[in-house]
Amino acid sequence: MRDWLRSEPIVIASGKGAVLRDTKGKEYLDANASIWTNLHGHAHPRINTAMQKQLNKIAHSSALGLANEPASYLAERLVNAANTSKRGKGKHFAKVFYSDDGSTALEVALKLAYEYTRRTGRSKKPKFLSLQGAYHGDTVGAVSVGHIDLFHKAYSGMLFQADKVMAPYCYRCPFNKAKPERADARSYRKCNWECVGKVEQTFAKQKKKGNPYAGFVFEPLMQGAAGMVPQPSGWLKKVTDIAKGQGALLIADEVMTGFGRTGISCRVHRDAIIKAQNRPVSKTLFACQRPEVEPDFLCLAKGLTGGYLPMAATLTTQSVFDTFLGEYHEYKTFFHGHSYTGNQLGAAAGLASLDLLEGKQSLHQRAVLQQAMHESLKELWSSPYVGDVRQVGLVAGIELVKDWRTRKPFDLSEQAGMRVCKAMAKRGVLTRPIGSVIALMPPYCTTAKQMKQMVMVLREAIEETFSNSKAP
Ligand SMILES: Cc1ncc(COP(=O)(O)O)c(C=O)c1O
Repeated sequence: MRDWLRSEPIVIASGKGAVLRDTKGKEYLDANASIWTNLHGHAHPRINTAMQKQLNKIAHSSALGLANEPASYLAERLVNAANTSKRGKGKHFAKVFYSDDGSTALEVALKLAYEYTRRTGRSKKPKFLSLQGAYHGDTVGAVSVGHIDLFHKAYSGMLFQADKVMAPYCYRCPFNKAKPERADARSYRKCNWECVGKVEQTFAKQKKKGNPYAGFVFEPLMQGAAGMVPQPSGWLKKVTDIAKGQGALLIADEVMTGFGRTGISCRVHRDAIIKAQNRPVSKTLFACQRPEVEPDFLCLAKGLTGGYLPMAATLTTQSVFDTFLGEYHEYKTFFHGHSYTGNQLGAAAGLASLDLLEGKQSLHQRAVLQQAMHESLKELWSSPYVGDVRQVGLVAGIELVKDWRTRKPFDLSEQAGMRVCKAMAKRGVLTRPIGSVIALMPPYCTTAKQMKQMVMVLREAIEETFSNSKAP
């Protein structure tokens, strides 16, 4: 906070497409889509028009005991989009519960899963398992299933107890014991799925205690706030099959990964570049859909309104819904609701955003941007301070290290990521670090040229920041 008070803040006044403008007229590229929310660019004419139209009718009326049109239509569209799978079963999700942000989308899922487990007699004391490094929001339930000590440890006394299990982090995998050598210091070695084994063991151990896990909470394909850490292909299907096999409900947090963010799975690697070129862009909007994982709860927020307004949705199945169905005197209803639940203005933005996402132009934009990101990021490998460059679809994480050969991390107190981001801001590119990882996930309207500019600026900022250090 002292750092914040010491410095002059950038005060944003307006935005258009991928560009933000401050009160002094300086322009910046929005390289993290305004903390991972914005999909199609700022001041998008289609979303603006949809919201203006809605504004002329009504901005908000309560959803407690009342319905409204845009939120109802949006629920139907979300269910349809989430049910599209290669096998085309199309009947999995049936219901949507609205709330306000990513954290509350998780709270809703956790409370529903907890009560569903109790009411169906599976457990009197339902317990949850989530991933090492997990971040699911800042409200107390979401923090309980989070495992980032820096954010969460101080509150441990007020949280419910949830277990954690190893999550894949191939770049820093403890099972990768071979000493990195110069030639392959940045490659991921083949493994025996030890991380999947850990999940299996953890589930088995809990079952032995006589109270199998009620729910397994995870981000699919990539963990965001853990440091933009991708899961190796096949991991998600394997671990969710284990969880399902043990009777746990699957709670997928797609607050960051949802709405097309994970595009075509593509990990950029110096030695083994998986080319996105010439492959069709996946039309599915959610990360779970590619490996055909069907969670019991799908938590959405951030991009739900295209990044315009806070709004969240928790999608679930008919079976969960029916557990809360009863006559008045049974008091079986799900006692949870926020004042702005089902907000019309947010829903109108959400509908316009889905129209855009499902249109050909967006698919094309995303394919171009994903490829441009892939091509531009290659520039970074030659920096001695870049340890790993990770890309899944339209999300990238660049891990800064003291020495790429040893993978020696910066200490948090050195503020390596923060200093690089400050140097980027000076050059007109805005993003925020996750410790020593620089996140790049621009709006989908970002051009190939703008993408290249973001990476070039990042490279220059790295050079400037560490120019006084002795080159490793
Ligand atoms: C994966 C994930 N879940 C939940 C959240 C919490 O969302 P919100 O900040 O909208 O409460 C975030 C926020 O960054 C997130 O990345």
